Amino acid sequence: MCGIIGYIGFRKASEILSDGLLALEYRGYDSVGISTYDKQKNKIEIRKDAGRIKDVSKRLEFEQLTGNIGIGHTRWATHGIPCMDNSHPHTDCTGNVVIVHNGVLENYNTLKHELKGTHTFKSNTDSEVIAHLIEDELKTKKPYEAFKSAISKLKGSFAILAIIKGDDKIFFVKNKTPLVFGLGENENFAASDMTPLIKYTNKMIPLEDGEFGYLNQFEIHVENKNGPINVISRMESIDWTPQMASKGGYPHYMLKEIYEQKDVINQILASNTQNGRDLIDNHDKIHIVACGTSYHAGLILKYLLNKKLNKSADAFIASEYPYISNPDKNTLIIAITQSGETADTLEAIKYAKKNGSKLLTLTNVVGSSITRYADQIIYLNAGPEVGVAATKTFTSQLAIIYKLIFGNTISDKIKNLLINGYSTFDTIDLIAERIYKKSNVFFLGRGLSYPIAMEGALKLKEISYIHAEAYPGGELKHGPLSLIEEGVPVFVLAPHDNTTRKIHGNLKEVKSRGGIVISLTDVDYISNDSDHVIKIASDKSNPELSIFSMLLPLQYLAYKVSVLKGYDPDKPRNLAKSVTVE
Ligand code: M6R
Repeated sequence: MCGIIGYIGFRKASEILSDGLLALEYRGYDSVGISTYDKQKNKIEIRKDAGRIKDVSKRLEFEQLTGNIGIGHTRWATHGIPCMDNSHPHTDCTGNVVIVHNGVLENYNTLKHELKGTHTFKSNTDSEVIAHLIEDELKTKKPYEAFKSAISKLKGSFAILAIIKGDDKIFFVKNKTPLVFGLGENENFAASDMTPLIKYTNKMIPLEDGEFGYLNQFEIHVENKNGPINVISRMESIDWTPQMASKGGYPHYMLKEIYEQKDVINQILASNTQNGRDLIDNHDKIHIVACGTSYHAGLILKYLLNKKLNKSADAFIASEYPYISNPDKNTLIIAITQSGETADTLEAIKYAKKNGSKLLTLTNVVGSSITRYADQIIYLNAGPEVGVAATKTFTSQLAIIYKLIFGNTISDKIKNLLINGYSTFDTIDLIAERIYKKSNVFFLGRGLSYPIAMEGALKLKEISYIHAEAYPGGELKHGPLSLIEEGVPVFVLAPHDNTTRKIHGNLKEVKSRGGIVISLTDVDYISNDSDHVIKIASDKSNPELSIFSMLLPLQYLAYKVSVLKGYDPDKPRNLAKSVTVE
């Protein structure tokens, strides 16, 4: 779960890499490093350390490195603590081979053991073995043959970029973690995703598992075990712009992405969902797989498929799916993943596909790994999302789900309910002040509001580090009520729908134990019994749409609390945007 980037061309590689790594920072940010190869001087240099990209690159003066070939890495530690030696790029004993790696090598212990007698290792990472393996192969082979031979020994997940002194190429291989090429005029780029590349080119080629080869200034050579492949036919023209992936004057990406929802909702709702709906109509048994926020969208989809379309649908946390499910050729798998790269989700769908199931996927990233397995794809059209906490992509997942179930007619209503959420922000500023020093916060909802309560709790916990839990209102008395005492904040999601009466009962249970009730509601008797009210817009003729009126308030609440606590909401500790390891 790291970010890698490579450049070969006519520009100063160190500048492209330093800048590009900032765009990849959301994938991991505990250490960073770059290496460049200056052909004229025949010199490879590496600079790296633990710390945030901006600090390390300034302190170590990354941009002083010369040369037009280079690779870089931003790390989210899996093997070995964040420190200078464990930072990438890694090199062999001679310093002539340099590599960056995203993924996890399953057999690195065996390989390291074999190499240990003749090689000195500087790090505790799994990745360093790659450089030493190439070093050994170079004793008898030319660089590309040596690289191929070395990577053939690797097991696990890996996207690797390598430089070998004396050869003006960047060697690469991809297996189970993402790698994308950007094609320029007399220059080529490689990266874990396209966000750092859109400044330079809109021509992208996603690689597939098992592909390897090399880039030079003018050529991309790709092969797999069956021989060379023409990947140009796979090229996608991407319409994301650098402005879309910038902060655009906001202090944080998350805030920008919260505000962007009013603008992107039109393009989201314009997505074509018909083929997806046809697949749903042709299946009675439907399994939804997803992780985190996307799983919450999956729960909403499950409720609506069961209640509105009479399907037998279930939603699974993707990492649990293989243990507890029984997909077959009559099952439709619906995978929801904004990145399209989440390893747990990819493993779940591979398992289902092996059993003959068909796959419909909802994803935001054109050409992402999941699209290569899908029978139908619905793109979320939300534009790039950089903040680690999903905001606009969650809204887009829900908007697409509603369009799949109800068709086009609800589009304007969704838009109005969503946008009305901005009018709650002043109230939320005050509520955030009241709760940011608390240690525990609860969220209650019933029916469709329950997954939204889960999302509210996830958002708050991931960026403010406050313990936050969501419960279906009815579960309160089965245990969690014992946690409610004087001053504990409880957010009660109580829109006007078939859950209002019963959630009101739960509100009373909380109040009588001294909890502070903060309701999100459009119902007077709920407001009257609450300590604080976040007044949401309502559509009494379509009560199932009211979830849209609660999205922005809950996202903004989490943002505000995180900022009040002095944290960076875009880069929560221990988390990364795309989780490409299982
Ligand atoms: O890219 P995906 O939608 O597959 O990502 C799934 C989760 O990792 C993601 O939603 C995560 O929970 C976010 N940090 C939530 O804000």
